[in-house]
Amino acid sequence: MLGNFTYHNPTKLIFGQDAMDALAAELEAYGPNVQLVYGGGSIKRNGIYDQVVAALAAAGKNVVEDAGVMPNPTVEKLYEGARIARENHVDLILAVGGGSCIDYAKAVAVSANLPEGVDPWQKYWVDFDEPAVDLDVIPVGSVLTMVGTGSEMNCGSVITNHGAKMKVGHVFADARVFPRFAVLNPEFTYTLPRYQMVAGIFDIMSHITEQYFSGTDDSTSDYLAEGLMRSLVRASRVAVKNPEDYEARSNIMWCATWALNTLIAQGKSTDWEVHMLGQAVGAHTDATHGMTLSAVALPYYRLVMPYGLEKFARFATSVWGVSPEGRTTEELASAGLDAMEAWMREIGCVMGISELGADESMLEGLADSTLIMQGGYHVLTRDEVISIFRASL
Ligand code: NZQ
Ligand code: ZN
Repeated sequence: MLGNFTYHNPTKLIFGQDAMDALAAELEAYGPNVQLVYGGGSIKRNGIYDQVVAALAAAGKNVVEDAGVMPNPTVEKLYEGARIARENHVDLILAVGGGSCIDYAKAVAVSANLPEGVDPWQKYWVDFDEPAVDLDVIPVGSVLTMVGTGSEMNCGSVITNHGAKMKVGHVFADARVFPRFAVLNPEFTYTLPRYQMVAGIFDIMSHITEQYFSGTDDSTSDYLAEGLMRSLVRASRVAVKNPEDYEARSNIMWCATWALNTLIAQGKSTDWEVHMLGQAVGAHTDATHGMTLSAVALPYYRLVMPYGLEKFARFATSVWGVSPEGRTTEELASAGLDAMEAWMREIGCVMGISELGADESMLEGLADSTLIMQGGYHVLTRDEVISIFRASL
């Protein structure tokens, strides 16, 4: 393991079919006013809303509802949520949904009590500033219904600003931004549309590969990453055939949480360029997050493979079981990416950005919206960014 690090993750996870039973007791640790954050209504249709409201009532909370959090939450919605939290003296923000609701809840948590005149977008998503130590950051809890982002156990919050054509993630250093607790019942994910389930599965894969494909030292983090990827591939193949297979859905849920709670990033420089490319696509098309990643991942990895050949060869054997026999290192590395491509097609990933509404005329704009990262095997030039988007059309 290289580098010096501190690993601290304060989120309490409550996992399994009975996880909701613990919510009412969990709520008792917080003050009386709860901002109940949810999305476009899936939780009303599948009954999760009723269970949450019952737990809030059992815990004697005053509830202010904050519904309509859209996938890829916007800066305008953030301003509205911060106002709701401030006006209602909220003691806890309870997010019931996927990454969008949880990211939004964290964003509201750090924005509601900012001094007047301070713009949260500018402060947190442009200047990447941290909350002041004396700022009252509102605690966040979550009930997860869509699996993929890892937001339930991390400090990340991604906000979209359509006006600026930017979708930006801030991974807060301030541990107060971690959700205090997360209720994880794999059965809550059964009602996800297949498209969302597959998007979440690829999001998990991308989180793992973007940490794995960096560095050349022998690192325990990489062995953990390989185990997560093997579990994810196996479970995803079952889940696409039978979405109500509890074993598969529970493994996918657990993989998602551990893929992006900073564990496998320890000692790694980490890459994150696929997310930067995907977020640019998201900023221009508002497409589903995981599918923006699947659309650009292979052109990106095929471009950077020569710079990290040994690791791509290891990926082929350790994750995909490709035999090294009779293959050069380059052929082996390539076969690993071919195996990943076959798996992506098998589970139903989007394979090109034109499927998401992008076209040739948008390539320059997409490149303008793409942040260039330094931690992977190769730092992209602007021409390479454009070539990746072109290859993904
Ligand atoms: O809004 P509702 O009606 O609830 O419908 C949602 C939404 O349309 C639906 N859904 C969720 N649970 C459901 C369900 N439908 C039926 N049954 C259920 N049980 O699914 C749709 C997508 O939900 P969303 O929360 O948008 O998906 P996801 O969890 O993928 O979150 C995406 C957001 O998270 C950010 C993304 O950029 C995007 O903005 N990310 C956050 C990260 C983090 N915090 O660390 C990292 C990720 O890389 C990602 O960037
Ligand atoms: Zn992601």
